[in-house]
Amino acid sequence: MMNTRAQTLNTHALKRSEKHVFLKSSNSNSNGRRRRSSRGAALAAAGNKNYKLTLLPGDGIGPEIMKVAVDVLNEVGRKHEITFTYEEKLVGGAAIDAFGTPLPEDTLECCKQSDAVLLAAIGGYKWDTLEANMRPERGLLGLRAGMEVFANLRPAVVLPQLADASSLKKDIVSGTDIMVVRELTGGIYFGEPKGFGTNAKGERIGFNTMVYSESEVDRIAKVAFEIAQKRGGRLCSVEKSNVLEVSQLWKERVIKQHENYKDVELSHMYIDNCAMQVIRDPKQFDTIVTGNIFGDIISDAASMLTGSIGMLPSAAVGSSGPGLYEPVHGSAPDIAGQDKANPLAQVLSAAMLLRYQFGEEAAAKSIEEAVNATLDQGFRTGDIMQEGMKLVGCTQMQEALMKNLSK
Ligand code: IPM
Ligand code: MG
Repeated sequence: MMNTRAQTLNTHALKRSEKHVFLKSSNSNSNGRRRRSSRGAALAAAGNKNYKLTLLPGDGIGPEIMKVAVDVLNEVGRKHEITFTYEEKLVGGAAIDAFGTPLPEDTLECCKQSDAVLLAAIGGYKWDTLEANMRPERGLLGLRAGMEVFANLRPAVVLPQLADASSLKKDIVSGTDIMVVRELTGGIYFGEPKGFGTNAKGERIGFNTMVYSESEVDRIAKVAFEIAQKRGGRLCSVEKSNVLEVSQLWKERVIKQHENYKDVELSHMYIDNCAMQVIRDPKQFDTIVTGNIFGDIISDAASMLTGSIGMLPSAAVGSSGPGLYEPVHGSAPDIAGQDKANPLAQVLSAAMLLRYQFGEEAAAKSIEEAVNATLDQGFRTGDIMQEGMKLVGCTQMQEALMKNLSK
């Protein structure tokens, strides 16, 4: 599966999931921004839980895999007495085509007013030549900033069924379970000044600014320490403090925050070394915390341990309000509309949504168990196909999944 968004991340908070953090602060049950539809209110009064979700299918394979996730959510909802109210909005290329902007105001508003947001994927060849500000990617960055989801959780878990699918040796990757906590709304992605200009020699230049404030580092460090506490108790802060001032401040603040989390073992690593170490010996890592661009890179590297970017979900959460849940892979325009897409990362993103946003652990587990069972039965889409397995398309994968879910 080709990805226009060359992202990464890894799935399944799966096995670790029991130990996984539930970020109390992102629990919409207690947050003031939560809105209920009147139908939702009636259901809630009747003792049923209703969650309002904004769906952003986006571009490419997005709509195909989103459909699977919604059917799965509805089925799991039936089992666990949860109902969902959906509102679908445009973002990325689809929004550019319809409204001339990758993030219409109405889309962002709807996301902010919902309990959680499920996004599929954005981008495609068609919009690749647009100027930076008008590209589908800009819609995603605007969404992250607008929703203030500063903490991006990108698990990299090697599933036993797929350990052979990695390009690395099985004994190196087997048992890997890393959580990359990536700062998502600051750093060089958003720093000012940025732009184009001319230098003293009259030559054109392009520039960006990598900047972090103390409070930005403190809040992501807190999230990461809390996650590490609930996982293996080890946190590695990744930066480039041998060269960058912004990283020196980062490291200082992480060390300061550590005072409040003495039960977590803290280590520090330069990003270049970290890139090497995740390939050399991934099992040395438990939880990693890092800035926006380093997290972008290291989570892509970590995803290849699993050999299956088509399997990896992610969660982006803020200190309150709805989070943004999306697969790590891109919109795969090369296979869009051909019933070839792997819907599992999208489905697992829905599981992350249930767990991290609503604390619906049992419902999240049902989904993850159904995914596991489906893989155990040998069903594989093209991107994770291996000898001796059953090659299926998106629809057949959904059928297998639904069967396992209704068991
Ligand atoms: C990711 C992607 C995005 C990023 C792009 C599509 C803007 O690579 O989510 O990792 O750089 O954050
Ligand atoms: Mg990326």
